[in-house]
Amino acid sequence: MLNFTKNSDLSVSETLSLLRRAHSIANHDVTVLHELDGMQMASLFYEPSTRTRLSFASAMNALGGSTIGFESSSSASVAKGESLADTIRVASQYADLIVLRHPDISAPDIALANSSVPLINAGNGADLHPTQTLADLMTIYENKKTLSGLHLTFAGDLKYGRTVHSLVKELLRFGNNTFTFVSPDELRIPNELRTKLTNTNTLFYEEQSIQTGIHSADIIYLTRIQTERFPQSLIKKSPTELTQVENFKPTDLDANTLLMHPLPRGTELPREFDVLPQAKYFDQVKFGKYARMALIELLISKHTPNTK
Ligand code: NCD
Repeated sequence: MLNFTKNSDLSVSETLSLLRRAHSIANHDVTVLHELDGMQMASLFYEPSTRTRLSFASAMNALGGSTIGFESSSSASVAKGESLADTIRVASQYADLIVLRHPDISAPDIALANSSVPLINAGNGADLHPTQTLADLMTIYENKKTLSGLHLTFAGDLKYGRTVHSLVKELLRFGNNTFTFVSPDELRIPNELRTKLTNTNTLFYEEQSIQTGIHSADIIYLTRIQTERFPQSLIKKSPTELTQVENFKPTDLDANTLLMHPLPRGTELPREFDVLPQAKYFDQVKFGKYARMALIELLISKHTPNTK
């Protein structure tokens, strides 16, 4: 049974074929209507979500299937003390696929040990967000036609932003990418990621101002400050103070530089950027649905239901 709790659950070539499949679906080159008729996806969200939850439901509907589940832990039996393990076992009895978002980093491992159907990690705490990475990869690939030899500048909350951790780790597998990380001292990339970058001999820079990373970048990837994740007692500065992009203006952006953001946005990404052709954040949202359709198809095709 194939699960998707981290991007390396698929090989690089499987990932590229998933992106090609998602491209074909997006361009109506293939018919997918009714493909998953009668199938059900359990969507278990223990943390808030708009795009991820809606795009998974929209993807499943577009494939002909349907969705069951909950969108907050307060409306599920966890409010009565049910363990994640039990909730996953319950969902496995009804669903052909489980999508889980949870604040605990270890949640996907617990779920894997208790699920009898394919599992997708839709975000585990500050760790990973592998399906956002698929949406990000698709956005990059559609625009740049490659996933290597690129310079990416990440700015914002690089410590707790799981979309950054996932995307950087994934791009290391494609090789030859250069990274600039712009953040205040308090929100620098985690040591584990820095070690990975060093061990793979990747060229990377850690900076305090976005101005250093603007002009050589193929992609600028902004993130909001993840205030819900860091202990307030440790950080005295306000989100506005922590955002290092205050002087970043639309005119700073070169014509060939993509501007990406996983959304939701905070003050780091004013709406004046939205009209720029380089602004790709709503494309990330759109591609997220097609990439998730291709992923759901793949996981269900690799799963023999009688092993349930
Ligand atoms: C991200 C997340 O949940 O990590 N949102 C998303 O799924 N697009 C980013 C964020 O919350 O900042």
